[in-house]
Amino acid sequence: MSNRTFTIVKPDSVRKGNFGKVISRVEAEGFKILGLKKASLSQKQAEGFYAVHRERPFFKDLVKYMTSGPVYVAALERDNAVAHLRKIMGATDPTKADAGTIRKDFGESIEQNAIHGSDSDENAKIEIAFFFAESELM
Ligand code: CMP
Repeated sequence: MSNRTFTIVKPDSVRKGNFGKVISRVEAEGFKILGLKKASLSQKQAEGFYAVHRERPFFKDLVKYMTSGPVYVAALERDNAVAHLRKIMGATDPTKADAGTIRKDFGESIEQNAIHGSDSDENAKIEIAFFFAESELM
């Protein structure tokens, strides 16, 4: 069944000019881009988006990194969207990610790991709604 997920092409990817390469990997896997925006996250937005991690020791640095430069946010659609995007992204830590995954090829570190993808259908809905009105998705 076709369903949705959400991605952020993170500041390190955008800074290095890898947005096009990252999003073309996503498109090549059959994801339809329902909505796409370039955004500079405010501290409040980054803290809100990653609120589930607020007690983690890396939270402050994560917010600093996610506000360090522009990102691209996108709502995506495909069969098995959440699991498939996570498969092609690879492990959170690029050094542990499988060969050929986005994080292995473009990530710098466990923090600066090139791309975010929703971890569940429920969070995909929440994360899409964080950045897009339903009327912006087509
Ligand atoms: P993401 O999939 O966007 O979800 C949470 C983010 O926190 C993660 O990618 C990394 O950018 C970051 N992160 C996760 N674990 C760590 C860690 N142990 N140290 C630093 N950053 C982390």
